[in-house]
Amino acid sequence: MATPSSTPSPATPDRAASFGLVAEDYGRLRPAPQDEAIDWMLPEHPSAVLDLAAGAGTLTTLLPSRVPEVHAVEPDDRMRAVLAARLPDADVRAGTAEAIPLPDASVDAVIVASAWHWFDTDRAVPEIARVLRPGGRLGIVWNGIDSGVDWVGRWSSRLGDSGGRPAGPGHFARRGELLRAALETPGSPFGALEHAAFTTTRRTTPTDAAALLGTYSRVILLPAEERRALQDRARQALCAEHGIGPDDAFDLPFRALTWRTTRR
Ligand SMILES: C[S@@+](CC[C@H](N)C(=O)[O-])C[C@H]1O[C@@H](n2cnc3c(N)ncnc32)[C@H](O)[C@@H]1O
Repeated sequence: MATPSSTPSPATPDRAASFGLVAEDYGRLRPAPQDEAIDWMLPEHPSAVLDLAAGAGTLTTLLPSRVPEVHAVEPDDRMRAVLAARLPDADVRAGTAEAIPLPDASVDAVIVASAWHWFDTDRAVPEIARVLRPGGRLGIVWNGIDSGVDWVGRWSSRLGDSGGRPAGPGHFARRGELLRAALETPGSPFGALEHAAFTTTRRTTPTDAAALLGTYSRVILLPAEERRALQDRARQALCAEHGIGPDDAFDLPFRALTWRTTRR
């Protein structure tokens, strides 16, 4: 895994740009939201969809089977390189949510996965509205380890306070508030938000689950020694919880929290 050359404070904007430091691991380890969550966000029979802040293509790779025309926009060169290698035929462009390199009214849906919280929404909301056709869909999802499952809560509490713990329910409730504040405003180009949650499990190993924690920005930016210690604790605690070895398989629960709204 690539390691950050410095350790900026997690409060700096460097967090939004940290993912490229682990782009290969990110592409290998981060699971996409399950099919039901993706289908819930997309409109029926879309002809063109934009995966905005597409990262290493975790969700983008699931779009070509659903949509004839797939566009992906991602600012980080290293993340984009992993995405382009996974989907050589996709239209992958450098850009941001605040300056989307697509024409007006050119897509039926914009999907944002685990990235909305990095956007300057005063600029991103009108920009997303600009590229959507009237009646087009904005779908937003955060997909993460399901800390509401009992044993995950126990595991999480053994990880210490270094920022590597799976996010709790309070954290996700705040995501909803963030969206309502940005999208349900007077004069908003979007209609009311709808919300749904989808749970699943993913077969993985304690080694890969510990490595997965290393793809979250707070952990990416930890000093290398702290990051290793956190990942060692995570792996050992998973082995103890399940009575398995580091490379034995177990089911890790995930929860995808989704929102959708329609361009007026
Ligand atoms: C947690 S990753 C999510 C990537 C991908 N959507 C996924 O589900 O795996 C967040 C991504 O947002 C990108 N990003 C950060 N700020 C952004 C912005 N202002 N506009 C667009 N993308 C941004 C980062 O480069 C990173 O690839």
